Amino acid sequence: MCGIIGYLGDREAAPIIMDTLKRLEYRGYDSAGVAVLESADTKPRVVKTAGKVADLERELAAGKPLKGMLGIGHTRWATHGKPNTINAHPHWDCGERIMVIHNGIIENFAELKKELQAKGHKFRTETDTEVVPHLVEEYYNGDLVDAARQAINRLQGAYSLVIFSRDDPGLLIGARLNAPLMVGLGKKEWFICSDLTGVIPYTKKALVLGEGQMVAITRLGPVVTDLTGASVEPRIVRVNWDVAQAQKGGYSHYMLKEINEDAEAVRNALRGYLDGRGNVSFPEFDLSDRQLLKFERVVMVGAGSSLTAATIGKYLVEDLARLPVDVESASEFRYRHPLLDEKLLLVALSQSGETADTLAAIREAREKGATVVSICNVVGSSMTMESDGVIYMHSGPEIGVCSSKTFVGHVTALVLLAMRLAAVRHRVAPERLAGLTQELHKVADAIDEVLRHSRRIRSVARRYAKYRDFMYIGRGINSPMAFEGALKIKEISYLHAEGYAAGELKHGPIALLDENFPVLAIATSSSMLDKMIGNIQEVAARGAPVLALVNRREPKLRGLVRDFIEVPEVDEVLSPLVNAAALQLFAYHVAVERGCDVDQPRNLAKSVTVE
Ligand code: G6P
Repeated sequence: MCGIIGYLGDREAAPIIMDTLKRLEYRGYDSAGVAVLESADTKPRVVKTAGKVADLERELAAGKPLKGMLGIGHTRWATHGKPNTINAHPHWDCGERIMVIHNGIIENFAELKKELQAKGHKFRTETDTEVVPHLVEEYYNGDLVDAARQAINRLQGAYSLVIFSRDDPGLLIGARLNAPLMVGLGKKEWFICSDLTGVIPYTKKALVLGEGQMVAITRLGPVVTDLTGASVEPRIVRVNWDVAQAQKGGYSHYMLKEINEDAEAVRNALRGYLDGRGNVSFPEFDLSDRQLLKFERVVMVGAGSSLTAATIGKYLVEDLARLPVDVESASEFRYRHPLLDEKLLLVALSQSGETADTLAAIREAREKGATVVSICNVVGSSMTMESDGVIYMHSGPEIGVCSSKTFVGHVTALVLLAMRLAAVRHRVAPERLAGLTQELHKVADAIDEVLRHSRRIRSVARRYAKYRDFMYIGRGINSPMAFEGALKIKEISYLHAEGYAAGELKHGPIALLDENFPVLAIATSSSMLDKMIGNIQEVAARGAPVLALVNRREPKLRGLVRDFIEVPEVDEVLSPLVNAAALQLFAYHVAVERGCDVDQPRNLAKSVTVE
């Protein structure tokens, strides 16, 4: 879950590496480092530090400038070894010639380390990564590519690696297995990077490395091979993201900018998939009606906010298409011997397309004959390459660690998938689909309306930021939203928050409530609003302050609710989209009020590419 960047070109490497690391920092931010090679006559110069990329920048500014057109940089999310300066990447060999950065976990590092120590190699750090430069050193016999290949073939686990050596000042090597890596293709310059977001200002074209592939880049260009050395046809992707999308654009945090892109995320997720008559088609998941009719069951998997989106997907697909859906945490699914066969459609949800558990679920399902469609944001990510089909949500880069616009993108794509399945199964009247199509276009305007009232939500959030605990409740398709709302608060405010289907309250959680334990009740219009009002009565009777998310201030709520957040009314099945924007804003403003690091919350990383 680290961010890695390697540069070879005709410009100074250090400023490009530092600039890229800032955009990759969402992947991990407990320590950072950079190594640059000026020529074969000098040792590579390394600067590293515990802390964030800004700390590394200060270290660099305090010393002699790093000179050279070949270099690597890393921002770390620790797995082996404390997040201190010594364990920060890059790592090097005994001769201090070979420099390596790594994302992933080398599972057999302990035995490799023992073997290398027995041969006299001296280790400096507690990391698994350090075995790599020593292994390359061990195999080096004048050919760095060959030594790297031999070393990489000894590794088990997950890695994306970038390697250079003082002995080959015009060579940059990358390799991947179970961790993302691509090569940004510039004009006479190349960027080996964890993802394209990092190098968007430099290029929009990238070569995506497949699993078990290596790339060796010289000034003549990249050569891709597998781990036996056999050449491989490179896969090239292009993205249409622009630089502004990957920058804060005047907002105080990426998360606030990205929440403000919620409405656009709905519009973008619809683009190209939905025509004016309510017909849905997915060019990269282009199954015929007959092929779709073969599915008797759907399983949706994901992690974090993508898992909540999956739960909303269950409501949507079961309601509209009348097809049974199970939802499962990807981390459980992979170890549970799930029932899988060719009549199953597995829907894998992931913003990054790289979450290790979700990727493992995809592999398991395909191996057992199921069809897999991924709903992803990142073009060329591992899941998009390993699935039978892809539905892109086209939300643009999301940098804030906590997912906001991509959650909205996911739910929008799920509405479309439910509509497509409903249409082929003839389980819903065409008028209903046409009505939903019109409503979907209105949803984006409704979200814009919520965003315009951010100040009002901020003033409510300020009053609630003093509490230590929160209970979120919802019903029907908004019960997963209670969970999602609570997750947002936990992630960025470090407050205790629970999300419950409101009907469950009296089976335990209501015992927690008192005047210091506020309840955020999602009470927007629905067929179950009266039941929800009943639940609000129950919690108000226990003295809990109630903050209600509503479409209007129902007279029945008078005297029960202390504060309201009002949002425009839309079709009930689409209401999670509008409610998401309000809940994200509320969580954001609570976190800011509490002085938390909204974009980079402690202990979290945006992309969890290890188990
Ligand atoms: C991490 C992030 C979450 C995200 C989850 C799944 O835990 O902090 O915000 O929801 O990963 O990520 P994915 O890229 O698979 O959607």
